[in-house]
Amino acid sequence: MSFDPQAKELNSIIQLENPTVLKLLSNKGKSVFFPKLGILSQSAEAKGKEINATIGTALEDNGSPMVLESIDSLVLLKEKEGFSYASSYGREEIRSAWKNVLTKKNPSLDGKSFSLPVVTSALTHGLSMAGYLFINENDSIISPNYYWENYDLIFKHGYNGVIKTFPLFTSESGFNVEGLREKIYEGGIGKKIIILNFPNNPTGYTVTNNEARQIKDVLIEAADKGNEIVTFIDDAYFGLVFENGILKESIFSLLADAHKNILAIKFDGPTKEDYVWGFRVGFITFGTANGSEKLYRALEAKLAGAIRGNISNASNIAQSLLLFAYSSEKYQNEKNEKYQILKKRYQKLCEIINNHPEYKQFFTALPFNSGYFMCVKLLNSNTENVRKLLLDKYSTGIIAQGDIIRIAFSSLPFNTIEKLFNNLYCAARECSSKL
Ligand SMILES: Cc1ncc(COP(=O)(O)O)c(C=O)c1O
Repeated sequence: MSFDPQAKELNSIIQLENPTVLKLLSNKGKSVFFPKLGILSQSAEAKGKEINATIGTALEDNGSPMVLESIDSLVLLKEKEGFSYASSYGREEIRSAWKNVLTKKNPSLDGKSFSLPVVTSALTHGLSMAGYLFINENDSIISPNYYWENYDLIFKHGYNGVIKTFPLFTSESGFNVEGLREKIYEGGIGKKIIILNFPNNPTGYTVTNNEARQIKDVLIEAADKGNEIVTFIDDAYFGLVFENGILKESIFSLLADAHKNILAIKFDGPTKEDYVWGFRVGFITFGTANGSEKLYRALEAKLAGAIRGNISNASNIAQSLLLFAYSSEKYQNEKNEKYQILKKRYQKLCEIINNHPEYKQFFTALPFNSGYFMCVKLLNSNTENVRKLLLDKYSTGIIAQGDIIRIAFSSLPFNTIEKLFNNLYCAARECSSKL
């Protein structure tokens, strides 16, 4: 495969700074670059000139962006904050603001080296960009068996990867660290792609502090043996942890400087953390042991190149709105209020399950302690039958996902939780008697 000289330059920086990272890149990842030559550099050179015919947006005769009054009247932001393009990397201000809050939200990141976050069109797009950069056809992606179903579309159908799963839970209802270890060693020493998602969709499980340390140890041991490991850390539901002793920081904090053979990649963003699902803004951040500025700049350039070739850049208006919110004094309190609402629902759910031992005849709850969801496993009925009966007879919607039922308590009004469980109990009992 012959590469553009600009890609070769980035590859040789990566090779010099950390050869493992170059090995981890997919063929597409090796070939991509953020163009320094061509349109972007020529536009940059023309900036401030008397006549500038390089800009590919429409400007008024006075140089301001052309906007339609019917749209502008809805938007309080200045034209440049909403209507023009953001950079493919994302706006500088939001990238640094997010980096600062990353350390506040994850105090043990303090003093560790990690990249400047790059803006994606929310996490889904970020995960897809990671597929672009790191997954070759037939590469295995190691994941717990309960994972967000969209990983199939992204990694399997999008990049022809193969998701290899291990049971998420041990028989003691903890995270199956041994299962992860076994999967890593399958197929001998080499490139390993792992995806971790806490709080997990669909189960609502976050590892304990102790389990997180064990995961780190397993990865370090595998890296010591010569495996090259890239760990995708899907932090979509970051911050929504409702119990003590559960990992409150991202596992990125533990892995970002774990080993030079481990590249940790954090996917996060305001879609769920700040309740702006439709804004479509997210971030990707890289971390590896002794990661140098040069290495991170090269990875950011690869990622920005992939973004430019896919969506060009993420929503500017959303980035601007978020920047305003992050500097508002009210922001943190408002966020805490929403957290408390979700936590109360979580506590109510735990209380209901504890108070109804009869449920155990028909279903049991999988371990959960965080996030948006919890799941139950039906003991003697079929999930799809129960789902249909709940819809038809009980006017109740849940998700049947294989052998489990997923309940999104994030979207359940507090006073409907009890009824939902009662309906589920009735439907499971009726379906089980039909078996
Ligand atoms: C585990 C997980 N990751 C990522 C996403 C996607 O988030 P976004 O809306 O930011 O693309 C979701 C959304 O449902 C999710 O459950």
